[in-house]
Amino acid sequence: MNNKISAPKGVPEYLPPESATFRAVHDALAQPAINAGYGYIELPIFEDTTLFVRGVGESTDVVSKEMYTFTDRGNRSLTLRPEGTAGVMRSVIEHGLDRGQLPVKLWYSGPFFRAERPQFGRYRQLQQFGVEAIGSDDPALDAEVITIADDGYRSLGLTGFRLELTSLGCAECRPVYRDLLVAFLAGLDLDDATRERAQLNPLRVLDDKRPEVQAQLADAPLMLDHLCESCAEHFGDVRALLDASSVSYVINARMVRGLDYYTRTTFEFVHDGLGAQSGIGGGGRYDGLMAELGGQELSGIGFGLGIDRTFLACQAEGLTPGPARTLDVYVVPLGEARSRAATLATELRRRGIRTDMAYGGRALKGAMKGADRSGARFTMVIGERDLADGVVQLKSMDTGEQTAIPLNDVATHILRELNTELNKEQLP
Ligand code: HAM
Repeated sequence: MNNKISAPKGVPEYLPPESATFRAVHDALAQPAINAGYGYIELPIFEDTTLFVRGVGESTDVVSKEMYTFTDRGNRSLTLRPEGTAGVMRSVIEHGLDRGQLPVKLWYSGPFFRAERPQFGRYRQLQQFGVEAIGSDDPALDAEVITIADDGYRSLGLTGFRLELTSLGCAECRPVYRDLLVAFLAGLDLDDATRERAQLNPLRVLDDKRPEVQAQLADAPLMLDHLCESCAEHFGDVRALLDASSVSYVINARMVRGLDYYTRTTFEFVHDGLGAQSGIGGGGRYDGLMAELGGQELSGIGFGLGIDRTFLACQAEGLTPGPARTLDVYVVPLGEARSRAATLATELRRRGIRTDMAYGGRALKGAMKGADRSGARFTMVIGERDLADGVVQLKSMDTGEQTAIPLNDVATHILRELNTELNKEQLP
């Protein structure tokens, strides 16, 4: 019998050294939001199932097919969060954040769960970085949210992606358009399942990938051509603001998002190097969601950026964001110097110097191999004789140069060297 236990299917893991890149991707995506005054919100990983059914929409694949739902010991139906927006709204309403200064601007990150068929870039546990800005329909907020995402991707050095943009209209113009589309679809030659879908969610039929369906959709009416005056003006303002900030985009009037709450400005970031799972992030306005969840009539806008897919996009473009080194010093103790070496390592770490050491009394040769592999900037050899002389041997792993440094000056010396290196890197 095979007793090995593997990770669940479709769940990615990030191990060193790639995990440092994964963290760096997360931090790079978060920085522009932090710079724009978004506050961090830590949300539950599971919520009342009703939240997602009402918030995300019963007819979506996410809710109808992909939720991890379970009953707890108190017979309550709970669901592992498939996305973050509904949970943020629930929390904002529950804690009355919407009664303070508006817009409420929040960011979050972490794992989300969707029981999808796993494939490259499509996971059952996926990680997102997201923001939500609630309580203003100023087009400047739309532009801000989109620019934050675009700046995050660009700060990683990514170039092989595009921003697709559209407007899905509002409670006034969308129903009128919907009727037009339903009437158009009724005149087509569609199979029963598609006809049913056309009744339930006609917009989603526009996304049908089959050529025989696409061919019939060439003349389908598009929401963008039927926006009411105020939606058209809003969309024009958002575009002008993006243009003014040099955020480039293409209009995709046939964009269909997998969640039901979107209104007005809606967008997706698409990367060309990922095959079928090309969406590295997406978002938009959701002007009716808060009221739907029992809160005030407040509008909102946000996005979720796929950290896993952004990580894959970096790999596809040969980018390895993150610190070039993860370690400054590797300590190699010889003989009886071991315990002094261990306390010295602690002293260095307390001064902010990233330090590791060779454990278990390894012989010099093996320990030096460990130093090489560690990627540290310096190797610090401490022998019994050195200790008696009150020094350590500090070897630069870049130049091979070795110097005896007085024990009580070690931390200051290393900090000075590291600072010089940092300053050199920062010179234009
Ligand atoms: P979403 O488009 O469903 O939007 O997901 C956002 C991003 O999460 C996608 O663009 C993709 O990069 C990533 N993602 C989704 N599913 C998977 C998966 N199975 N495997 C790997 N990555 C995945 C939302 O979730 C909305 N809550 C975004 C939002 C926030 N809209 C407004 N505010």
